[in-house]
Amino acid sequence: MSYKVFQLEPYVGQEELANLTKSINDGWLTEGPFSKKFIEGVKDMTGAKHALLAANGTLALYLMYLAIGIEPGDEVICPSFTFNATASPLAIIGAKPVFVDIKEDDLQIDPEMIEAVITPKTKAIVPVHIYGQSCDMDPIMEIAKKHNLLVIEDAAQGFGVFYKEKHTGTIGHCGMISFFADKTITCGEGAVVLTNDDELFEKLKLVRNQGRPNSGTFIHPSLGMNFRMTDLQCGVGVAQLAKFPEIKERKTKNFELYHAWLKDVPQVKFVGLSKDSNFIPFRVNIRVERLEELLQFMEDNQLQTRRLFYPLHKQPCYSYLGYQENDFPVANKAYDEGLSLPVHLGLKREDIELICDTIISFYG
Ligand SMILES: Cc1ncc(COP(=O)(O)O)c(C=O)c1O
Repeated sequence: MSYKVFQLEPYVGQEELANLTKSINDGWLTEGPFSKKFIEGVKDMTGAKHALLAANGTLALYLMYLAIGIEPGDEVICPSFTFNATASPLAIIGAKPVFVDIKEDDLQIDPEMIEAVITPKTKAIVPVHIYGQSCDMDPIMEIAKKHNLLVIEDAAQGFGVFYKEKHTGTIGHCGMISFFADKTITCGEGAVVLTNDDELFEKLKLVRNQGRPNSGTFIHPSLGMNFRMTDLQCGVGVAQLAKFPEIKERKTKNFELYHAWLKDVPQVKFVGLSKDSNFIPFRVNIRVERLEELLQFMEDNQLQTRRLFYPLHKQPCYSYLGYQENDFPVANKAYDEGLSLPVHLGLKREDIELICDTIISFYG
């Protein structure tokens, strides 16, 4: 199917190309000068004490879970309404993902649901900052402190998102941000792990690089893997970091256009703004009546849309956990009603107008 408007379009150009060319010309492909520059840029932006690169967000989560000591049999609490990568590395380790519901207004994890599922086996909480806003972290950190639990933030979608002046991913014990092609800034694939904890930083360094403190040695004090990135990707990342203010401004403008044109349509409701968080539109998420029919109508009009997350408690791969269909009604409802509209920088004002007009014409 060819679309008049695509859901995603990476915003890359000559600046990224110049850095890629430099990497090739300089003959430096593995982590090197651009990697250092990218890490420093991410640290400046987030205020994190330490930052390490990882090959992608999924592996960054796996790396954090391994380094922080999640073990087989441990229980780890996360929202049902998230991308599978939050939970799958836990399951692969042999730990048990324990799901909780989300809040109706902003779709973030509901801190009020957490204490009820804590057991003696609970080791950690994984709040997931979704769709360009932050979870309500204060109550989560309080619960973690009270029950002596670790907090590992999935801030895959949280680049540039702050909760009460603190960047997402820097509030718990560690956190990660993804740079996949649909993220706020991208390296194609890639991620960064953030922590303010010196001891954890040392463990993360070992696990990400074959159990040794530096490359170039064949002595491995501990077990580890290869979670590294390349300088080619980081060159792209450096160019993207410089574009972030523009990306933020233009995505916000796109969101405002959608809001102005759709806010009075009775069958359309915008996902609410999170408390104590800024908003970097990652998608434009709306909740609508007759979603299935609208999806088909948009497709027929060559406008590419996306549904929101299919809750993890209903995923075939977690059937062994024994959850019921109707568990987590708020997550279920978000899936049943939720629609993502494109917000990328390739959109023209007319594209957004066309999408809004099409939705309005659907509802007559
Ligand atoms: C909430 C969340 N967690 C984790 C990931 C995994 O990141 P990556 O695609 O970089 O592996 C994603 C990616 O979309 C995500 O949205």
